[in-house]
Amino acid sequence: MCGIMGYVGPQQAAPILLDGLRRLEYRGYDSAGVAVTNGKIDVRKAEGKIDRLADLLESEPLAGTIGIGHTRWATHGEPSDLNAHPHTDPTGEFVVVHNGIIENFQSLREELAGEGHVFTSETDTEILAHLVAREYRGDLESAVRSAVAKAEGAYALVVMTKREPGKIVAVRRISPLVVGLGEGETFLASDIPAVLHRTRRFLIVEDGEMVIVTEAGARIEEIAGGAVDREVLYIDWDAEQAEKGGFEHYMLKEIHEQPAVVTETLGGRLDEDGTAWLEDVHFDDDFARNFSRLWITACGTAYHAGLVGKEIFRRLLRIPTNVEYAHEMRYADPLVSSNHLTVAISQSGETADTLAAARLTKERGSRLLALTNVVGSTLAREADDILYTRAGPEISVASTKAYLAMLIAQYLLALRIGRVRGVVDEELAARVAHGLSLLPAHVEELLHHDDEVLAAAESIVDADDVYFIGRGLDYAVAMEGSLKLKEISYLHSEAMPAGELKHGTLALVTKDTPVIVVLTQQALYDKTVSAVQEVKARGGRVLAVAYEDDEQIHKFAHRVLRIPRADDLLGPVAAVIPLQLLAYHVARLRGHDIDQPRNLAKSVTVE
Ligand code: F6R
Repeated sequence: MCGIMGYVGPQQAAPILLDGLRRLEYRGYDSAGVAVTNGKIDVRKAEGKIDRLADLLESEPLAGTIGIGHTRWATHGEPSDLNAHPHTDPTGEFVVVHNGIIENFQSLREELAGEGHVFTSETDTEILAHLVAREYRGDLESAVRSAVAKAEGAYALVVMTKREPGKIVAVRRISPLVVGLGEGETFLASDIPAVLHRTRRFLIVEDGEMVIVTEAGARIEEIAGGAVDREVLYIDWDAEQAEKGGFEHYMLKEIHEQPAVVTETLGGRLDEDGTAWLEDVHFDDDFARNFSRLWITACGTAYHAGLVGKEIFRRLLRIPTNVEYAHEMRYADPLVSSNHLTVAISQSGETADTLAAARLTKERGSRLLALTNVVGSTLAREADDILYTRAGPEISVASTKAYLAMLIAQYLLALRIGRVRGVVDEELAARVAHGLSLLPAHVEELLHHDDEVLAAAESIVDADDVYFIGRGLDYAVAMEGSLKLKEISYLHSEAMPAGELKHGTLALVTKDTPVIVVLTQQALYDKTVSAVQEVKARGGRVLAVAYEDDEQIHKFAHRVLRIPRADDLLGPVAAVIPLQLLAYHVARLRGHDIDQPRNLAKSVTVE
């Protein structure tokens, strides 16, 4: 959802900006552009993929060693060359890129128009270029400060002027911004992977801060004024992790990374007896013993991970647990209070709705635990406790490995709390720990059954609608399987609890309608099979995800994807793998852009 790049140093800026923008592609975009200063400001921008911008730069090169770049995901104004960033003021002396939304843009536009300003685009961003130019009195920092004082909303804004060469000024209000510190060169980016191959030393710009970037480094200040002393963050991610590593798509690569991800997420955190050591979870035993309610809040796939978490916590901890869509919770006046624990789940740690819901629970006195994949993300920084998923950078818009890591992390959290509360006894803790330790091998084994999943994908590729059913934990997994399928294959799909089918949706099941059933929960097996029979009686085609030693399943299903036998509590972890692969293969057979599905963005940093 918009990517930002900036460069100040001795090298030509345009190729560096272009390279960074390519690495930010996963955020989703519909146009791209760069600007450099070299005595004057030159801009090149184009609607569409970055290759179009690269072609433009080939035919009309940009010379200069200071520059800013942007990938735009349209909010105000359609995707077009004119609306693409960067935007300049009418004199062409000031140039800006911006991620986020200026909420009062209409009134600012009218105010400026009243003063005679003429705009060339429909964007809210262009207004910022005009505002900075209007406020300029010989000092870019002050001009940016007074411009943003007039702007409401969530954004990251990056500004350059030919009047002060050698400097880029940026501010952050909610939308993410990081500084990469090189040797005699400095980078700005929306996130760390964009420049991780160039430096491992980063400064994270926080909400409400301004950063002044030169080739010598960066200085952070409060937007309101006042110096900030920010510690340099050293990132030890393997840069290879951010590349495709020989796979056709990032999504497939990330699916295949999952055995290693499970090992990483568990690494050093779990003893054989089920004692969990969670390094950044700081609450003491007293709190763990006494908190009275658990809230889980998240969006999308992270919410589906929360659905699994709810079941785990309910079964292991017997604590009242709510799982809430963050975008609903933030406006729902939830009955959160002190002595509650909120687990906010977010791969990116930057999802605007999740941050808002998390902040709300904190304001109401709840303790806030961030379950996130991104070290130093906003959610992590604002939380009392952090549980990093350690899945590594996830590039594909469709989340896979981060989801799996979210599940593993929640088992760990349940063990940590359950042992202290005395509700998870030694035997149960050791059983869960043993089950978790088997998972890397189980997940690995499942990846070897790709041919069977491909055949299943071929059997549903031409369907109009697909339904997913399951009960309890299987329902939670069905929700994720359905989302994966629809978001990358564009095939209509819905998930529901198996018992819900006959209350309406069964009317849509006719001859050959594919119905995918997840069947790991043995206590509910017969109940789920009843729903499957209802499907079969209407001619529906049943695809089951079931344990390898389930001998009855062939009586009910037309096709079975087998998973290794596991403790039912851990069943969802293995069950999601064939569903991820199924979505991948259906999307590939349908010829879609798998890593960047239409209309979607990796990081949803606006409401
Ligand atoms: C789907 C997907 C999204 C995200 C959602 C929340 O594959 O990735 O549904 O899960 O946008 O994102 P995070 O986890 O970054 O808060």
